[in-house]
Amino acid sequence: MVKRQKTYVNVNEPRGIQVSPLEALAVKHLSRRQVLKGALGAGIVTFLGGPGRFVSQVLAASPLLGFTSVPVSKDDAVHLPPGYAYDVLFAWGDPISDGPELKADASNSAADQAVQAGMAHDGMHLFPLPKGAPLTDRGLLAINFEYTDDGLLHADGMKTWSAEKVQKSKNAHGIGVIEVRRKGEKWSVVRPSRYARRITADTPMFLSGPAAGHPLVRTALDPTGRMALGTWNNCAHGVTPWGTYLTCEENVTPYFINKSEKIPPLQDRYGVDAKTWGFRWHEFDPRFDAALHPNEPNRHGWVVEIDPYEPTRAPIKRTALGRMAHEGAALAIAPDRRVVYYMGDDDFRTKFEYIYKYVSDIPYIPGGDFDANRHVLDVGKLYAAKFNDNGTGEWIELTYGKNGLTPANGFNSQAEVLINSRGAGDTVKATPCDRPEWFAVHPATQEVYAALSNNSDRGKPGKRGPDAANPRASNIFGHVIRWREANNDPTSTRFEWDVFLLAGDPQHSDPDKRGNVKGGVAFACPDGLVIDPRGVLWIQTDSSAASMGTKDWVNIGNNQMLAADPSTGEVRRFLTGPNGCEITAAFVTSDGRHLFVNIQHPGEGVQPHPARNDPANPTGVSSWPDGGRPRSATIVIRKKDGGLIGT
Ligand code: FEO
Ligand code: CA
Ligand code: CA
Repeated sequence: MVKRQKTYVNVNEPRGIQVSPLEALAVKHLSRRQVLKGALGAGIVTFLGGPGRFVSQVLAASPLLGFTSVPVSKDDAVHLPPGYAYDVLFAWGDPISDGPELKADASNSAADQAVQAGMAHDGMHLFPLPKGAPLTDRGLLAINFEYTDDGLLHADGMKTWSAEKVQKSKNAHGIGVIEVRRKGEKWSVVRPSRYARRITADTPMFLSGPAAGHPLVRTALDPTGRMALGTWNNCAHGVTPWGTYLTCEENVTPYFINKSEKIPPLQDRYGVDAKTWGFRWHEFDPRFDAALHPNEPNRHGWVVEIDPYEPTRAPIKRTALGRMAHEGAALAIAPDRRVVYYMGDDDFRTKFEYIYKYVSDIPYIPGGDFDANRHVLDVGKLYAAKFNDNGTGEWIELTYGKNGLTPANGFNSQAEVLINSRGAGDTVKATPCDRPEWFAVHPATQEVYAALSNNSDRGKPGKRGPDAANPRASNIFGHVIRWREANNDPTSTRFEWDVFLLAGDPQHSDPDKRGNVKGGVAFACPDGLVIDPRGVLWIQTDSSAASMGTKDWVNIGNNQMLAADPSTGEVRRFLTGPNGCEITAAFVTSDGRHLFVNIQHPGEGVQPHPARNDPANPTGVSSWPDGGRPRSATIVIRKKDGGLIGT
């Protein structure tokens, strides 16, 4: 057995936390730029991310990365380093409680799907049970189901189309909350559970904050502009210090259609056009016809707060955090307990969008619950990032009346600034980035790591060229940048930044595509970023199936999960996924011994997004995990000797 030392961190006392020798060792790992200035405690709260009075934490005395890299793979399987194993916990179609199972031919009804796992597992977080306990053997797993492959979802795919199929597709989107428990080394879903819950594209939820009730979010169905229906394309996520889940609405507008001759500018800036990504919801739900209901798209593209412990509480769309193709919301806590969220706008059509942060005006109340902290995400300031070529940067405030956000430039209120956050970013000349995906805040240093997935349009004629923060033209492989706020305070408006790594294939004939990864590991398109309790930076990749079939990817293979040492830059390949999948989300338990990871959309074909499987041959690309039609799934990884993940 690996020798472990436990430290207990009182999250009610972010300052003055006792630092164990192992924490000190972790800190010693850090580079000269990563000097601690009294923010260690606040940082620990950030990365534990969970609620409660005491949270256990284990730090290893062994080197940060101790496993042997796995080779690239083109197999229809999950591969892990020697000494590691995994179990499938929760796959598309599995019941969330004691409801119906998935049928092999996927002929389940829409009603069945409403009480089963949705498709395309993405962001997730494990909340401890009981609330406030160390997370080692029982919890509530909140998980996003980003989108559907309707070729797999229905027995005959989309050959026929009906209101029932639209309902099933909507019910396979959204969020799930399930109760999970560990017995020995094995985690399983608790069935039945009073916590089990599905939130879908039709679930009623509140709009709150400055944009709630504004005329631009009022519709015929909701003349108050305060109660929206549903959430979809939920990509990455965040958590609050008071134990709630934040789900982030990413590519919401491709579900709408507008066949008008002239698309309104706001719809156009957010990508509503005469075609959808093929979801065909508008054919049976007029809400998705943006010509008929021009304000309906404005009610989506927000960060949504969900209380996993209260299954009857309605979700709340927090408009103060801005409207965009929200990837995730990475939490940092200021010394004065104001909360900060770092957020990316990842639109893979426009590709050149911005990085944002939200800073609450009021501190959160330690030990307080959802109600006690209900205003923290409604009253605050939004900023957009500007990266200067000299390694400095600034956060430009997106507040009505400041920085050109005035009627002369089309902004008449803070609500309008938030509903059109992209337009606000344009106005203040924020830095267009190469598809910002997940961000992760380092627990000890508060440095923020940001995955910039790729941007093949960078440097094309008529498009923006490279800059220091987005240094490669035709950036097909992506990179990771990081920044450090002035005074180590996440509320600062100035920061310093550098490029942490450029992804690529070290064997590529084009030197510009080789990347600079220490360890010579080939990978592409960083998307998921998570820093675990030991300080390992986990990087998960999202190369499209279409890309993977090209010569640029011959040495890269299937999507994968890598472990990086933030202090040295060393990278090792920890996991390779089955055919057509992407790897999303990572959560390490408080004892450091179990790693929850999502295998998203195994079996993705090579058609344009959203890639749809051939219903006549659903296993043509993948039959992971169980030999039948491919299913997105949460897996739980452990070290066979019971040791710490990553060692
Ligand atoms: Fe849903 Fe930007 O990935
Ligand atoms: Ca993503
Ligand atoms: Ca993705």
